[in-house]
Amino acid sequence: MDFVEHLKASVDIVKVIGEYVRLKRSGPRWMGLCPFHTEKTGSFSVHATHQFYYCFGCQAKGDVIKFVMEIERLSFYEALKLLAERHGIPLPKRSDYSDPETKLRAGIFEMHELAARMFRNALASSAGADARGYISKRGLAAAEIEEFGLGFAERSGQFLARRFQQDGFTAEQMEASGLVLKRQDGSGFYDRFRGRLMFPIQNESGKIIAFAGRALAAEEEPKYLNSPETSIYRKSTVLYNLHRAKEGIRKNDRAVLVEGYMDVIGVYSAGIREVVASCGTALTSAQVRSLKRHSGNIVVNFDPDAAGANAAERSIQILLDEDLRIRILELETGLDPDEYVKQRGAEEYRKRLDAAGSYFHWLADRARSRHGATVEGQMAALKELLPAIHRMSDKIERAAVAEDVAHYLAIDRGIVLDQFRKAALDRRERGAPEPAPTSVPPMEKILLNCILRSPEIQTGVLARLQALGAAERFATRAVFAVLLQLSESGQKIGFSELDARLSEEERTLLLAAVLADEGSEGTDCRKQAEWCLEKLESAGREALRAEVRTRLREAERAGDFAEALRLAGELNRMDSGAPR
Ligand code: UTP
Ligand code: MN
Repeated sequence: MDFVEHLKASVDIVKVIGEYVRLKRSGPRWMGLCPFHTEKTGSFSVHATHQFYYCFGCQAKGDVIKFVMEIERLSFYEALKLLAERHGIPLPKRSDYSDPETKLRAGIFEMHELAARMFRNALASSAGADARGYISKRGLAAAEIEEFGLGFAERSGQFLARRFQQDGFTAEQMEASGLVLKRQDGSGFYDRFRGRLMFPIQNESGKIIAFAGRALAAEEEPKYLNSPETSIYRKSTVLYNLHRAKEGIRKNDRAVLVEGYMDVIGVYSAGIREVVASCGTALTSAQVRSLKRHSGNIVVNFDPDAAGANAAERSIQILLDEDLRIRILELETGLDPDEYVKQRGAEEYRKRLDAAGSYFHWLADRARSRHGATVEGQMAALKELLPAIHRMSDKIERAAVAEDVAHYLAIDRGIVLDQFRKAALDRRERGAPEPAPTSVPPMEKILLNCILRSPEIQTGVLARLQALGAAERFATRAVFAVLLQLSESGQKIGFSELDARLSEEERTLLLAAVLADEGSEGTDCRKQAEWCLEKLESAGREALRAEVRTRLREAERAGDFAEALRLAGELNRMDSGAPR
């Protein structure tokens, strides 16, 4: 067996996709929210038996390798490698899968692994004494250093550069890695990170793709130096700690979003495993979507200063656009999450998280404190809140929030609802309507699924269909034509054999048919197929009878009585030979 086939046969697509998307079982398929477009009700399905995914909303589809390529933004070979490594399947030492871009990226991944190792060793060595001092001042325990892979970048500027050269990495690889910089005079490379405490940044599958380096001295600028964008690091799509947090996010059905690397480490170590941060950028929709794959609930806990509050307000807009349920935790004591946990303890912090209020109370408080408690102030506050509330796409939820805001701001509910109606008139539904799923007539659906599910009836059923000529009138005739060809040439008939021979459009029909399969375990395919064939046969006979009757009437009208008599006889034979 070809390696790709072997790999696909050894991994379970439901398990692999289930790591990225919450799936619920429904017959032989699993359903969830599509990770490739924004939606409120799940159109994304994963088929366990035939090992593919399909989204009725955006038509994204493919096998397990395609999924990993899309979700992790990997090349074909990288996706193979990731799946093979994760499932302990040895990868053949062949490079014929890899293109130059993939090879370059492989080099960059390797350089990041190596750099992380060197940073860790340096932290433990004598060169790392200052950094260790800083770490202990900040109250980080050995277990946290280990878990988060913290390290130290030496000051020489030749720490990584020299090693990369020794290990034979090319100038192209070095430049593309973002870890070292080219000297102005072209005489080689020097390290980007020097004299800093290093935080590795991982992607969702746990591979190191970038670093952040914190200055050790208070006056040193910038406080955090981050890796630049490279071919393995796209800032807008990465959340710090997501690979560790995703299990916790699912288990607790919420994510906690904080601002800083140190906040993540402090909060995570306090046992709140569902914590993530964006990496030195404002929150993006791509980041929100990757959270939403694991939970629809989020608690935003930014620093209790003006910058943090503004960032939180901006984040609310983005989170609402992706339909997340948002709560805001503002720690009143002026401590950021990391400091709060250290001073007040994990239990106290967890209590505060659990008690965090809805975002619009927080917004209302802010607006109120800006506008004062007069009637005019209340109205001004309401006006300020409206846009945020209008971003909620769920009508019922929106109305409930409107009521609540009216109550909270002590404004007459009639006035609030009135404001709402006005704004609702302007509001146009966001996004394109979801296209209706391609439909396949029930009879064809049943036949297709029976044939695919039970090899022992394939030849018989297909032969009878061929004799009937019925499949020529099917909506899925192209699919059946391939089935008949396969059967005639005595080849194996399975989902993938069929799928491989169809055009893009025909594949969509096949997918629609297979996904609509209720597939209750005990169904007798032979019986079902028999029922379909009988229906088709009697429909065929009925069509034939109608045709003879038409010709009989025509012969009578034309005065051709000999022909009329012959046709009447034929009709008689048909009726007695095959009673309905
Ligand atoms: P903070 O200044 O709040 O840092 O910035 P922090 O995480 O609390 O760090 P400590 O506790 O002072 O060490 C919050 C986040 O903003 C980004 C980083 O992601 C940081 O964690 N940031 C901040 C930068 O990218 N560059 C900077 O110069 C400063
Ligand atoms: Mn901070």
